[in-house]
Amino acid sequence: MTTQVPWQTCELTLDRAGPATLVDQIAGHIEAAIAQRVLPPGARLPSWRDLASQLGVARGTVRAAYEKLIDRGLLHAAGSAGTRVVARLPAGLHAVAADGAGLLPEDYHFRSGSALVFQMGVPAHDAFPATLWARLHRQAVQATSLQSAYSDPRGLPELRAAIASHLAIARGITCSPEQVIVTSGYRDGLGIALRAIGAGGKQAWIEDPGYPVTRFALELSGIHPVAVPVDDAGLVVERGCELAPHAALAIVTPGQQAPRGVLLAPHRRQALIAWAARNRSWIIEDDYLAELHLAGRSPDAMAADEGAERVIHIGTFSKTIAPMVGIGFLVAPLPLARRLIDVATWLTAPPNPAAQCALVSFLREGHYLRHLRRMRRLYGQRRERLLQTLAGLGVEQAAPAALSVLLPLPDGFDDQHLARAARAHGLGPAPLSPWFAGASQPRSGLMLAVANVRERQVEQDCRRLLGMIDGALRQDGRLYEVAVGRQKPG
Ligand SMILES: Cc1ncc(COP(=O)(O)O)c(C=O)c1O
Repeated sequence: MTTQVPWQTCELTLDRAGPATLVDQIAGHIEAAIAQRVLPPGARLPSWRDLASQLGVARGTVRAAYEKLIDRGLLHAAGSAGTRVVARLPAGLHAVAADGAGLLPEDYHFRSGSALVFQMGVPAHDAFPATLWARLHRQAVQATSLQSAYSDPRGLPELRAAIASHLAIARGITCSPEQVIVTSGYRDGLGIALRAIGAGGKQAWIEDPGYPVTRFALELSGIHPVAVPVDDAGLVVERGCELAPHAALAIVTPGQQAPRGVLLAPHRRQALIAWAARNRSWIIEDDYLAELHLAGRSPDAMAADEGAERVIHIGTFSKTIAPMVGIGFLVAPLPLARRLIDVATWLTAPPNPAAQCALVSFLREGHYLRHLRRMRRLYGQRRERLLQTLAGLGVEQAAPAALSVLLPLPDGFDDQHLARAARAHGLGPAPLSPWFAGASQPRSGLMLAVANVRERQVEQDCRRLLGMIDGALRQDGRLYEVAVGRQKPG
């Protein structure tokens, strides 16, 4: 049996002035509808003629879009039965995220291929030291290819030593290489920490707004996230104590709050450490962006604070070098070190030794610190350029937030839908609402990451995005000028 779905449920707007071809835009919209199950397996699509006349495009354009999706294994042409969504979707096409939230990996930054303009969570692809990295990696492959044994489950000793030295200089953390466990990034480190703590069935504080991936990871681990609000001084620790005084852990981004970019104020850090000590709870410090603070050097890590014996520090090279490097680390506080090492040894595998070896050279030869300096300068320039451009286009409420610029939208506005539509046009802003977990209504908005802003085309890209926002708001019967303070639609 096949499912008939009214075609009208799939919204299909085309940007005739944008760089993406009409064929790609139509194919992109249909793919998104299939991924979101708006068009479920077996659903019949309209004929080329009907859709072409509905969209005001040539029949050949719709046909080419359908053929593209047939080649990709998403549609099949069933003769007189029309074109239909295949019964079994290819493995890479994700339906929904954890807990039926309706979110897709690509609603965050998890999409392969080159970064989109404004895409969150990825470094500048044009500033990655590709030639240098390729050379170091080639040498590392040669050096490791003769090693046929298992590599140390905690990570290569040379890399653990290099990370410990870097942390002493850059993050103020005094630790021995024995406390460093090399991971494949934040999520891997978080998984190891959650299993080592063994907090199943217990509560964990998370920041609200905060990184949705952390929330999903807790839910999947059977831990109950408790949303604790964030203000201009970071996590409101007093509120956490009221909401869940006996939570087993708290997960925070003190060095640069995700997504607001604020620092956790010293009095709040002390209060959090005191709470953990009193309650014998754990603090997970997600230090993902502290080294890319644009307003000067960020304060030392929380794991460097006095009394921080219950802080598990998690770092990643995904933001500072590239996600494809696939390396991060955690620093085990002494009381939990044995458990963390056990979990890393028995339940996970370390990253590829060649990549670890290349990173050792990158750190030891001074490339990393130089790269960080360049990135801070570049991101500062790109953020400034984006803010100036938006101001020049009459957007008054754009606000810097870490390595992004936040464009607020009226509360209740469907920012996820807008972000998905933007992706079909080659723009990758992230919707803000999924970052809210609390009972309060999520704020709607778009986060425009600065890393991949194209300086020469930024005005054109902003105009395109603002045009889409205008169109979506008009459809919603609201006035964009009133909603986000723009004086005049661009
Ligand atoms: C808050 C936060 N933590 C950590 C990470 C890094 O995650 P990973 O190392 O798993 O790529 C990100 C990525 O964007 C993030 O936004």
